[in-house]
Amino acid sequence: MLIYYKLIKMILGSVVDSDINEKRIAISPDTIKKYITSGLSVQLEKDFGKNSNIDDNELQRLGAKILNKEEIYKTSDIIVKINCPSDSEILLIKEGAVLIGSFFPYLNKDRINKLLKRNIKIFSLELLPRITRAQSMDILSSQANLAGYKAVIDSVYEYNKAVPMMMTAAGTITPAKFFIIGAGVAGLQAIATAKRLGGVVSATDVRLASKEQVESLGGKFIFAESSKNLETSGGYAKELDEEDKKKQEELLKNTIKNQDIVICTALIPGKKAPRIVTDEMVKSMKSGSVICDLAVEQGGNSAFSEPGKIVVINGVKIIGHKNFPSRISESASILFAKNVLNFLEIIYDKVEKKLKIDENDEIIKAVYINKEIS
Ligand code: NAI
Repeated sequence: MLIYYKLIKMILGSVVDSDINEKRIAISPDTIKKYITSGLSVQLEKDFGKNSNIDDNELQRLGAKILNKEEIYKTSDIIVKINCPSDSEILLIKEGAVLIGSFFPYLNKDRINKLLKRNIKIFSLELLPRITRAQSMDILSSQANLAGYKAVIDSVYEYNKAVPMMMTAAGTITPAKFFIIGAGVAGLQAIATAKRLGGVVSATDVRLASKEQVESLGGKFIFAESSKNLETSGGYAKELDEEDKKKQEELLKNTIKNQDIVICTALIPGKKAPRIVTDEMVKSMKSGSVICDLAVEQGGNSAFSEPGKIVVINGVKIIGHKNFPSRISESASILFAKNVLNFLEIIYDKVEKKLKIDENDEIIKAVYINKEIS
């Protein structure tokens, strides 16, 4: 069924996130120009680009109107946002407006249901199918890629030694050894970054398809030979059974004790992150080593990791920073904003200057939340 919404001059708005720890924004200078060329008016909250080094004058010069949060919510036909609006924001959004962003409906059930009661049309882009046509809109990939990069940079910052091999008149510095757990989007970027810095890199994953990708980046792939390939038809990982868990534990016990920096990125969609690095493994590492747990907010891959903290155990630092993409917000915002623009192009008709939501489209079906979450 094709639904047409008759709106003459549509207004696209975005606000600064109500969570002060969220530094990303969902509209970039580049996308403002494109939205305006498509016939939309753009309105942004005061200080919108502050964390990305863009001042309001620059945004106005590009054609955006600067207003306060309340005015934006009350008058925008389309709101683009990084995270789910807060309870107070929900009350401000114009009834029937379109809301685009990353809203994790099962973590934000009450808010999603409140939005639906207000007849808001919600499109949550982390639900996109991993198909070729959706790649340019894939916020999970664009943000995970930067998270993998930043995890290496933050780990190296906490590591008190040089990463590359250095042969000097005063002696030789040996290269740092990196071990990456989970070779998906974040893990592969972590491997590439660690290699560029001159590290010696190895990695593991439960999907055998990742072996070739790890090796093509110059990493060594580590896998218990007798383990099963645990890949779903959608390309994601399955949970390990007890037998495979034991094999992985045995393999990693011997690998992790010799590493300088361990980057954990392993996730199972819709489930708690698998616990992979045990207490014993952490305690087997040399003092001064670093573990960076990107999965900390999903329950953590590593023992001792705590959201928002750096925990030190026997001299081993376990980094549990939250929201890695926000720690590199300028780059993350540019990519997120581009993903949103690419998505908007499939629901906004530039010629007729109105929304056209094709509910039979595979992408729309996956991201459109139009039923209450129980
Ligand atoms: P993810 O963020 O869900 O998980 C990260 C990685 O952890 C995955 O590689 C997963 O196999 C691994 N993992 C899970 N449990 C593990 C365990 N116990 N031990 C070791 N590793 C474990 O995955 P991500 O990064 O979102 O990518 C998943 C897949 O989707 C990959 O195959 C990727 O190539 C594919 N993809 C496809 C796209 C497309 O448009 N065709 C776009 C982006 C990703």
